[in-house]
Amino acid sequence: MKQDMIVVLDLGSTKNTEIARAVRNLGVYSEIHPHDITVDQLTQLSGVKGIIINGGKNNIVNGAVIDVMPEIYHAGYPILSVGHPLAKCENLETWPDSEEEIRNLLKGFVFDVCHAQPNWNMKNFIEDQVKAIREQVGNKKVLLALSGGVDSTVVATLLIKAIGKQLVCVHVNTGLMRKGESESIVRLFEKQLGENLIFVDASERFLKKLEGIADPEQKRKIIGAEFIRVFEEEAKKLDGIEFLAQGTIYPDVVESGTKTMETIKSHHNVGGLPKDLQFKLVEPLYLLLKDEVRACGLELGLPESMVYRQPFPGPGLGVRCLGAITKDRLEAIRESDSILREEFEKAGLNKKVWQYFTVVPDFMSVGVKNQVRCYEYPVIIRAINTVDAMTADVAQIDWSILMKITDRILKEVPHVNRVCFDLSPKPPATIEWE
Ligand code: XMP
Repeated sequence: MKQDMIVVLDLGSTKNTEIARAVRNLGVYSEIHPHDITVDQLTQLSGVKGIIINGGKNNIVNGAVIDVMPEIYHAGYPILSVGHPLAKCENLETWPDSEEEIRNLLKGFVFDVCHAQPNWNMKNFIEDQVKAIREQVGNKKVLLALSGGVDSTVVATLLIKAIGKQLVCVHVNTGLMRKGESESIVRLFEKQLGENLIFVDASERFLKKLEGIADPEQKRKIIGAEFIRVFEEEAKKLDGIEFLAQGTIYPDVVESGTKTMETIKSHHNVGGLPKDLQFKLVEPLYLLLKDEVRACGLELGLPESMVYRQPFPGPGLGVRCLGAITKDRLEAIRESDSILREEFEKAGLNKKVWQYFTVVPDFMSVGVKNQVRCYEYPVIIRAINTVDAMTADVAQIDWSILMKITDRILKEVPHVNRVCFDLSPKPPATIEWE
């Protein structure tokens, strides 16, 4: 359906995404565009009802303060200018401090000045995307690497709705997944995809490649490269695939800082899939912000447990099994992480703590079990809160809950005789240990 849109022009503000999100939260679609967009280009975007010129401290390029094309001021669009002293229209020096005030300011501009209709919602988005996907793909097949993360799960669900069994999903179990994770992905999609869901258990292969490799960067590289190799091998076995679907989302597009979709795509091929795979790309979420991806998932009927999953690094448990990865320590992480998640859910902390997991280092300490001296691994619990993962605070967990988790880990997880809690904020520590 045709929808109204407010365009945010980027003149060096760090708040572009926040402003676009605030407009979208009012029910009006909003996109961010570069400062030097021409009136011609603007009119080609359909439904533009108004422009927000969003200036900020990064507005100096090559020693000069950048401005929008002068013709923009005379094109007849209502303009709200913030933080951009050169703007030849009504202008505000800065955005108000509180979200509430920003919301009210935008409300006045979007509805009273621009007369935009609030017709941006997930139902319409899904309807539009289903149509667009069918048009783009025709009767051809689409391949998707299904990791089980929120983005790829939502992409899969949207594609199934649009093209059913023209979708082929490959799920690679790297052996670095959490307990029950691969199984739950298969369970979620096997009915709808049948034999179009290809499950590859590559855990032994990954372990072998990683044997004796202790350097974190090298581990990451090996895991990434091996993933591509496995995926490529599967892709080559398949006939007649023309498209590759990816879970690229709007922040990826905006943060890559590019103007054209071409550059964005080469920047952001998820998992670094090689170009010579010769696929055309399908990226149905590229307009969505993270919270909208979740809303889209819920609208498509995905369970909350899937939609509100905590972030999980691409290299998986590989970066939580410190130093050279071994099977027994990997198992200790999987089991202790599962206990931690279970107890956090019981205590309702899964909705309050942003990210929590366990880490097992590659050293042992002395202990006693059944009156016998033992020499075993510690488990480290990490629980943090953050807004954007750039900085993080340690989550304050009730002592009694920590004691319960410690007790269970010591009783139930083999090769472990000690439990520690990581008290470090980011910075100086990162969220993950490697
Ligand atoms: P750090 O450890 O850098 O992590 O403070 C910040 C956030 O990013 C996640 N993370 C990753 N996510 N691929 C990802 O998709 C990765 O390689 C990766 N490494 C870290 C981490 O879990 C945290 O949420």
